[in-house]
Amino acid sequence: MRIVMQDTDIDTLASVASFDLALDTGDTNTASIFSVLAIKSFLPHTKSQTVLVRLPPHLVTALHLSDSYCDHLAVFKIYDPCHLNNRQGKGPLIRSPHPWRLEAEALALKNRQLGRYANNKRLNRNFVTDIDFKKTGVTGEAIWEEHFYRLSQKCYTKERKAFECLKELQGISVPRMYATGCVSLDNRAISPPFILMEYIDGISLAQLDSLQIHNIPSHLFERLYFACHRFPELGVAHNDISNTTNILFSPAQAPVRAIVIDFGHATLESEIPADAEVGWQLELIRRHDASIFFRKMERLSVVIPNSIVESQEQVLSNPSYCSLSPFRQRAAD
Ligand SMILES: Nc1ncnc2c1ncn2[C@@H]1O[C@H](COP(=O)(O)OP(=O)(O)O)[C@@H](O)[C@H]1O
Ligand SMILES: [Mg+2]
Repeated sequence: MRIVMQDTDIDTLASVASFDLALDTGDTNTASIFSVLAIKSFLPHTKSQTVLVRLPPHLVTALHLSDSYCDHLAVFKIYDPCHLNNRQGKGPLIRSPHPWRLEAEALALKNRQLGRYANNKRLNRNFVTDIDFKKTGVTGEAIWEEHFYRLSQKCYTKERKAFECLKELQGISVPRMYATGCVSLDNRAISPPFILMEYIDGISLAQLDSLQIHNIPSHLFERLYFACHRFPELGVAHNDISNTTNILFSPAQAPVRAIVIDFGHATLESEIPADAEVGWQLELIRRHDASIFFRKMERLSVVIPNSIVESQEQVLSNPSYCSLSPFRQRAAD
C-alpha cells in the first residue's frame, strides 16, 4: 500500500486532511487509489503520529473488513522522523534541538544509498561521534537525520513485527492490523512507513478514576493478564505495559473488551541473535510484561485472583523464571 499526501503535520491538517491511498494488492493491474479522511489526531506525538481516519466503502471491501460502523474508522500510525519528539533535544542523549531540514534529509538518504553509514552502528551517542566526518564528507546535520530515520524505522519495524507475531490475539487483546506501507510526501526525500489498524472505540486506563476502574468487569483485567502471558510465548515483550495509556477498554460506557496497544517499544525474540549473551529467555524475564502488569494493577488496587496467577505460574515452570517471578517471591515472604 502507498499513501500520497501533502504533509504529515497532522496537528494542523486533521480537521481537513484527506489522504490518498494506493492499495498495493501485489498485482499492479488491480492497484487502485483510495482516499481516507482524517478525523482527529491523537496527541501528543512521540515516536509516531497517530490519526483516526475514515475509510471509504470500497477500501473497506478491499481490506476485507465487515461493514460495521467501526470498520469504516481506522487508526493510521505514521513513523515520520520529521516529527519525532527526540528532535526537541530534551533527552539524556540528545541535549540540543535538531529541527528537520529537507537538505539534510536528502543528504542522509544519498549517503545511505552510497553506503557511507556503517550498518552496525548502534543508535546511541557513539553513532554520532564515531563517524569520521572528514573521511566520509558527511555533515553533522545529515548524521542526525540518519539517526532519526533509523529510530523511526526501528519503532515501525518493531510494531509491525509484533503485530505479525501476535496474529492470534489480533481483534481480541490487540487491534487488528489492516495494512502497512509507505507514505509518499511532497517535498520530502524519504517515504515514511505506516501501519493502518483497527480503531478501538473506547477509553484508556489512564483516563479512568479509581471509582471507574472498579466498575470495569474484573474478567477484563484477567484477560489482559492472560494476554501479557501469551506475548512472550509468541515471541514478543511489550515493554511499556505499565503505561496506562496503552490499555484500552471498549466501548467506553460499558466495556466488554480490553486491548493492549502500542508495540513501538517491543522486544522481539527474532531480533535477539542466537549467540547473544542475553538470550531470549533472560530478556523475556527481565521484561516480563505479566509481572509488570500485575504490579501496576496492585498499585491501582485491582485484584487479579490468586487462582489465575497460580495457574499461569505453572506455565512458567522454568527454574530461571521461578527465581525472578514476583509471585514466587511473594509466596516466600
Ligand atoms: N488502535 C487504536 N484505537 C484507538 N486509539 C488508538 C489506537 N492506537 C492508538 N490510539 C490512540 O493514539 C495514542 C497514541 O498511540 P500509541 O500507539 O500509543 O503511540 P505512542 O504512544 O507511541 O505515541 C494512544 O494513546 C491512543 O489514544
Ligand atoms: Mg502509547
